[in-house]
Amino acid sequence: MKFDQRADSNPIDRLKVVGRAQDRIDGPLKVTGRAKYAYERHEAVPGQLYGYILGSGIACGRITDMALDDARRASGVVDVISTLDYEPVPLSDYNTANLFGGDEIQHYHQAIALVVAETFEQARAAAHLIRVDYNRTEGQFDLAAAAPSAPLYTNGEDDTGENRYGDFEGAYAASPVQLDAHYSTPDETHAMMEPHTTLAHWEGDTVTLWTSNQMIAWSKAALAKSLQMPAENIRLDSPFLGGGFGAKLFVRADAIVAALAAKKVGRPVKVTFQRPLVANNTTHRPATIQHIRLGADRDGRLLAIGHESISGDLPGGSPETAVNQTESFYAAENRLTAMRLAVLNLPEGNAMRAPGEAPGLMALEVAMDEMAEKLGMDPVDFRILNDTQVDPMKPDREYSERHMIECLRRGAREFGWDKRHTEPASQVEGDWLVGMGMAGGFRNNMLMKSGARVRLGPDGVVTVETDMTDIGTGSYTIIAQTAAEMMGLPLDRVKVELGDSDYPASAGSGGQWGAANSTAGTYAACVKLREQVAQKFGLDPAEADFTDGQVRQGKQSFALQGAAEDGELVAEDAIEYGDFGDKYLQSTFAGHFVQVSVNRFTGVTRIDRMLAVCDAGRILNPKSARSQVIGAMTMGAGAALTEELAVDTRFGLFINHDLASYEVPVHADIPHQEVIFLDEVDSASTPMKAKGVGELGLCGVGAAIANAIYNATGIRVRDYPLTLDKYL
Ligand code: MOS
Repeated sequence: MKFDQRADSNPIDRLKVVGRAQDRIDGPLKVTGRAKYAYERHEAVPGQLYGYILGSGIACGRITDMALDDARRASGVVDVISTLDYEPVPLSDYNTANLFGGDEIQHYHQAIALVVAETFEQARAAAHLIRVDYNRTEGQFDLAAAAPSAPLYTNGEDDTGENRYGDFEGAYAASPVQLDAHYSTPDETHAMMEPHTTLAHWEGDTVTLWTSNQMIAWSKAALAKSLQMPAENIRLDSPFLGGGFGAKLFVRADAIVAALAAKKVGRPVKVTFQRPLVANNTTHRPATIQHIRLGADRDGRLLAIGHESISGDLPGGSPETAVNQTESFYAAENRLTAMRLAVLNLPEGNAMRAPGEAPGLMALEVAMDEMAEKLGMDPVDFRILNDTQVDPMKPDREYSERHMIECLRRGAREFGWDKRHTEPASQVEGDWLVGMGMAGGFRNNMLMKSGARVRLGPDGVVTVETDMTDIGTGSYTIIAQTAAEMMGLPLDRVKVELGDSDYPASAGSGGQWGAANSTAGTYAACVKLREQVAQKFGLDPAEADFTDGQVRQGKQSFALQGAAEDGELVAEDAIEYGDFGDKYLQSTFAGHFVQVSVNRFTGVTRIDRMLAVCDAGRILNPKSARSQVIGAMTMGAGAALTEELAVDTRFGLFINHDLASYEVPVHADIPHQEVIFLDEVDSASTPMKAKGVGELGLCGVGAAIANAIYNATGIRVRDYPLTLDKYL
């Protein structure tokens, strides 16, 4: 189905199942341990062996020798595969760092060997018996040191690396009120609960990988390239993930070494990353150094916005896109955004939890707070004054829907913003300095082709099959709600099967595009199934009404399941987008409000309460959407207060590579969270009229916390995380 105009009224608009708060249909499986994650697929195939990865002990250089004999002789060991025995595996466009093969070391903990044994413990013990000789060379591991000489990042020959509108320098220089500030965000790791894991099994020339991956179709194509075999001989199965956060968008070394080892030993091999490899072997969110300049007139109207960001990556890598939102979030006639990219020899930088906007807004929204203070304006009013309904870089293009002002007004009202002390450090309660802060939130809405197959069985059950993943987000449930609404069934008459590459390719889970696109693909397949059903009954598909298990037109009425009494009906389709999606700028918006208390003597920060007001189109399931947003707000608290990978700039590794020393918020850190969804639909997005919402919940939160701490203490810290030492 081609989506090429604003969506008309359609069966989803009835909102009998969609738009209602539903428990997760996969919840009982999860809380009873019956949902099998990749490392638990004991039933999948007999004779599984355990693989243990040895990671490189240097960050940069070459391996000159590897002594494997002691490991091979160790108890229970079946084989050891070494990177020296393979050519570097060809990489898909999604990967920057070498995954396996060859003697070159590009980053610390690169996979250099896999010990395969009868038990995990035997494999681990034997891995310690491998002796590796390296020729270590110097690397650059320090962003601050590399930043001054980092070149502009360009996307090809026509791209200067700068995105300009009007005359930024002239307008900034002439602005009566100016702000010029630098901000920094640290390297961060995804720290999902389930590490990357793959069980690989060959039958002849075909391989099955039971794995933990967000993007099945991308990864199937990537594996075909890396394993140099036809894609049709590869099957991936990833029905449940214990989190991904962007680290599982791409194929990583677990899948490659499991497949290579399983082929070599002729038995299934199961590999999971030991926890330190999640930080150093996979991807991470790269650190940024951001420079923001804002110019305004005395009434608070922005005249010039400049946002430049520097980040680092391996050679051939790409930057953290921290300036993205600044291109379009606020009005101003003169604009400059640019990114610089330094070459660093740290592990690969890549997408993590709202890449771009999350760290970018941690700078921009603090700059907005600082500017509001210079202007003597309330920060809510300042943002409202500078709202835009068009793309400021292309003013003839409108936002499809943008209700940012309502997010801010509603948030201010519900949060009790009028009780905020405007004077920083003026609200003291015992040992605590109390403050309120707010920030705007912005995250793109991406349109991606997404397919699904639906079956109507003689028992009246509708089954949806798509390679869409549920990374903890609730995909199972919203896809079931969509099919139930379309076919006029209650939720318990719908089954959803996900994550298998044998099913139609979906948009997958990433960039908060999963919900809107995968349900739209299900919608498209259901439109086809309705046509088949209507035809069976001799009805007009445009007129037939599917409700309460019945199909009705005029005085005629049939039980839906009757259409399948002679055999199952099967329909497949995908939602596809032409240029229509580009006609409008599509985004999601939020107002984030936070109250904190900072201890006057120790500098300890406690978050007292948080509120997010979200404008993200139709909310398909308010319950799972709320869970997404409060989870994201919690990530925002981590980003603001605790999360930081400590870089060893001598040896090029992240030292705090475990969940004991990489601090993420726990329940005790997060008190009261409220989420309000504006009652809006976006008919330019998909027939579902929904947009993404999960990552929006994170975008702006860090800055709202930083602004609240400033309001509490009068101390402005521009270097995240905002740890207590910076307030003493
Ligand atoms: Mo998301 S960081 O695009 O999985």
